[in-house]
Amino acid sequence: MDLTLTLNSGSTKSLQAQVFDQVRDIILDGQLAAGTALPPSRQLAERLQVSRNTVTMAYERLAAEGYVKARSTAGLFVEPISPDSLLLIQRGSRARTNGPIPETSSEPLLCFAGSPGGGSDRPNCDFWVGRSDPAGFPLRIWRRIINSLLLQETAYLTDYCDPAGLPELRLAISTHLRRARAVAVTEDQVIVTTGGQEALNLVFNLLKSQTRQLCIENPCYLGASLIFNATSLTIHPIAVDGDGLQTELLPKVRGSLLYVTPSHQFPTGATMPLARRLALLRWAEETDSYIVEDDYDSDFRYDGPPLTALAGLDGGRRVFYAGTFSKSVGAGLRIGFATMPRLFWDEARMLKARMSNGQAWLEQAALAAFINEGHFDRHLRRLRQVYKARRDCLVAALRRTFDDPVLLGGGSGLHLVWHLPPGSPSARMIQVMARERGIGVYALSSGAAYSFNSATPDDMLVFGYSSLNEAQIEDAVAGLHSMLHEMARRG
Ligand SMILES: Cc1ncc(COP(=O)(O)O)c(C=O)c1O
Repeated sequence: MDLTLTLNSGSTKSLQAQVFDQVRDIILDGQLAAGTALPPSRQLAERLQVSRNTVTMAYERLAAEGYVKARSTAGLFVEPISPDSLLLIQRGSRARTNGPIPETSSEPLLCFAGSPGGGSDRPNCDFWVGRSDPAGFPLRIWRRIINSLLLQETAYLTDYCDPAGLPELRLAISTHLRRARAVAVTEDQVIVTTGGQEALNLVFNLLKSQTRQLCIENPCYLGASLIFNATSLTIHPIAVDGDGLQTELLPKVRGSLLYVTPSHQFPTGATMPLARRLALLRWAEETDSYIVEDDYDSDFRYDGPPLTALAGLDGGRRVFYAGTFSKSVGAGLRIGFATMPRLFWDEARMLKARMSNGQAWLEQAALAAFINEGHFDRHLRRLRQVYKARRDCLVAALRRTFDDPVLLGGGSGLHLVWHLPPGSPSARMIQVMARERGIGVYALSSGAAYSFNSATPDDMLVFGYSSLNEAQIEDAVAGLHSMLHEMARRG
């Protein structure tokens, strides 16, 4: 099969991204039927006069996102995608709205000081989930940018900003999202928020008056459960499995709002395959519902190219996207953002004005400069290497030390989960005993996860590995091993 692609070497988009986008569009346009083989990478590279690596990497990404599948050595073949789904992801169409846009429109709290993951009382080796490495914070550059902003622009310190966020930061965010997550939004679809948590709050408050019921992954992120539990709306918890939320369990009720973490399910770490992502979009369309995609840690993916976000597939119709710089730069900045279909933005801006009248100027301006001067991309590249080495070290140490451990969700983000074998002490018990030895590993219920209608599974241990170095990781795993050995000996 010959593919007609037109590459532009002067484009700001990389050649690899151009190959990926064009082959993907050809598949989505239905021009390549299911089962058709892609041309061998060497042949396509020669014809396009690009390096073979360019084509191989684009092909890897198509495979990672589920558009094609390898069949042993025979090559890559297009996967079946239902015609309904193809229609869904055609660009440009707008969602119908379900009613008018509104006129105005026990356990630890996330990670505050004093919770297991916060404050000064930390264990020596703390695998608390989702902490970026303090040593990885770009302090020198940040200081320089802040100093230069304070020298030039002090008037902004005494003035109010746009409640939607600093325009240059919204532009920088939309440009980053387009390149890194294939989410085609413009700056007038972005609202800058106080972390990802406020982005979730903002979207929820924007949509609640037209929402009949809430759907949420089960187990899910504690922060999302706090928002959902604070309402009188009916909540439908939807079970997750190794592929994330089980889409076939979604109720067919019109006017729903669904919270989901498709890139790295929190807490289990599952990545949702393309077929389920498309099923989600189909469900939203059929039931006139909206989806909040929480993409909290997707800047870090280690074993392949970044995946297109659900909001990228949706093309600006039914998916609200919540992002944060808490993982990629630092949680102390408290900067996150929400993106949305354009038609909701004015109302969201008004709502943000009502909630807090915008964000602090200095951090926003510094972050915009950090991204625009190219530091953010370099910072992410460096941190990906550091975190990948830590992930590899943890996986190798656990595999070396324990008998065939079942490890989940290590392909991206800042944490992975060890599904404990039958007969093992409970995760809570291990958490308590490990703490006495200065090791912080967490049962789901203490690791910022929440379960509706049932006890949180107690056979999973969460390891946030990003803020520990390799020596600490090795020591902690050895410590866990001797502790579990001792517990087994004592029966
Ligand atoms: C799943 C998930 N969503 C959202 C967030 C939002 O984080 P923040 O409010 O710190 O930006 C977090 C933080 O850990 C998270 O784990």
